[in-house]
Amino acid sequence: MTATGNRLKMLRIAALVTALSYAAAARADDPAFNAAAGITAVTGAQVYQHICQGCHMPDAQGAVGAGHYPKLAGDPALVSWEYVALTILNGRNGMPAFGQPVSQATEFGAVRLSDSRIADVVNYLRNHFGNRWKGNVTAAQVASLPHPP
Ligand code: HEC
Repeated sequence: MTATGNRLKMLRIAALVTALSYAAAARADDPAFNAAAGITAVTGAQVYQHICQGCHMPDAQGAVGAGHYPKLAGDPALVSWEYVALTILNGRNGMPAFGQPVSQATEFGAVRLSDSRIADVVNYLRNHFGNRWKGNVTAAQVASLPHPP
């Protein structure tokens, strides 16, 4: 490879490393999502605001553009808490999984939600944005569902 080619390659690697460290910093500066901080007082609303609304929008109306993000406001599919929890745990088509094992989430720097945070955001979603589904889900119920390997 020529000297110029090598230099371009180095620049590309440097840019990638910078981008990855920005991504890590974006999570790390939020104590609510820093596992090391061991903070447990995170509400379903906070989980929604930090993680879900980026795609589903703050008012849960969804968005169509570079992708299709379904609206979760007044969404009849939310009648089934299992459907909501399984979607969050395992992902669905264009939606990433949030229930992967800790080791994997750490290795790939992905956002991971514990069963109890998933229960919180399921309960929040099913009782906000015009959704009125009865019954609160517990972390133990979420734990009983299949998780990603
Ligand atoms: C990176 C974008 C993205 C993020 C972040 C995201 N979702 Fe999704 N979500 C999607 C897409 C895309 C779909 C549609 C999947 C499909 O094609 O069925 C979806 C589908 C859903 C559905 C199924 C809706 C229905 O009517 O079938 C639920 C429920 C849901 N998401 C909840 C959440 C929750 C809760 C969070 C936060 C923990 C979240 N999503 C974060 C992209 C995202």
